Order: sequence, then structure tokens, then C-alpha cells
Amino acid sequence: MMKSENTFWHAATVTQARREARQGHKGVVVWFTGLSGSGKSALAHALEERLHLDGCLTRVLDGDNLRHGLCADLGFSQADRTENIRRAGETAKLFMEVGAIVLAAFISPLHSDRAGVRALMPDGAFLEIHCACPLSVCEARDVKGLYKRARAGEIGQFTGISSPYDIPANPDLLIDTSREDLAESVRQVIALLHARGVFGSVR
Ligand code: ADX
Repeated sequence: MMKSENTFWHAATVTQARREARQGHKGVVVWFTGLSGSGKSALAHALEERLHLDGCLTRVLDGDNLRHGLCADLGFSQADRTENIRRAGETAKLFMEVGAIVLAAFISPLHSDRAGVRALMPDGAFLEIHCACPLSVCEARDVKGLYKRARAGEIGQFTGISSPYDIPANPDLLIDTSREDLAESVRQVIALLHARGVFGSVR
């Protein structure tokens, strides 16, 4: 819903294609979705490390981190999560347009919110990766101690416990992060980027 009327789009002369040509790869949003503790952030950062060393322009966007700034006014109600994902998607798009490989790690529990982000991007510029890890494994790991607190009723609306998670129906890649190690997961995502032409000639 756009409230700002009487505004006008000003097209850039330095286009995405010109930025990508200089960069040597395309801009793309690699979107990691999955339960808390499913390894989204670990995978995003491991990929960024690898891609950065290879000379790529990268940016990790992480749910926990954005909630310290841009999304600090949002909680975990359904409406707040939807707004969180909308802002994250718009932010990812800005970086993608600069020609960056954006590594976005958000629970993004609702199919409709993820579809909304995909719809923001040009065809092929949004890759959805499901970090599929059983709730029992995430809960057993409980790296942040949040599952224990959610079970004790200290944290409400907790994804997988008292708030829903829509399993992606048709992700670009599914990684079973309870079985694959980090290096293998990185390899799979890099292979996907190659297969989708991110390192090929610019669009
Ligand atoms: S999302 O649902 O809006 O996509 P986001 O990825 O930004 O969530 O943030 C999730 C992180 O917030 C979790 O990894 C966890 O550290 C923290 N968190 C705090 N409260 C909750 C909650 N009720 N449900 C899920 N995660 C929570």
C-alpha cells in the first residue's frame, strides 16, 4: 500500500547491467529460510567468506541483525514478521541492484511473505534455499537457548513451537542442514549459482 502520492520515479543512468559488467557477476538474492537454529546464518556467512575471497561483491542480511536497526520496532506477531520480511526484501533488492550477491537469512515463516519478496525481483534474481532441519534437531542444538525458554512459556509466538512455519513447496534448493556439513552446503549453493548463470555474461 503506497501512501506517498505525487512522487516520481527517476531512472538511473548507471544501470544494474553497467554495475554488473564492472563487477564480473550478476546481482542476485540468495534467500535462506528455515527454523531458528537451522543453520541459515552460518551458511550465509560461510558463503560470503568464500565468495569474497573469490572477488565477488557480497552482503549478508541477517534477521537477528536487522532487528537491531532497520527492524528494531518490530516484534514477532504475524503482522510484524510480514513487515520485517517486506523491509528485508526491499533492502535485498537495493543491494542486488548494485550487482551484489545478497545472502539473506530470515526465518520468513510464511509462504506468502517469501512469494512477495520473489515478486519484487526480476526473473531469476531470487533463489530460495530451504535450510531444512527437523525441529527436534534445532531444539536439541538450542544454540541461543531460545527453544528452552519458548517451551517454558517465557517467549511467545516462537516459530515451530507456538507460531507456524510454512515448509517451502518448491524451493530452488533444499539443504538438509542436519546431515550436510557446512562445506558441502556451501558447495551446493555455489553450484546453484553457476547453474543459474550468476557468474556468466551479464543479463
Ligand atoms: S522472521 O520470522 O521475521 O523471519 P527473523 O529471521 O527476523 O524472523 O528473526 C528470527 C530470530 O529472532 C531468531 O533466530 C531468534 O534468534 C530470534 N527470536 C526471538 N524471538 C523469536 C520468536 N518468537 N520466534 C522466532 N525467532 C525469535
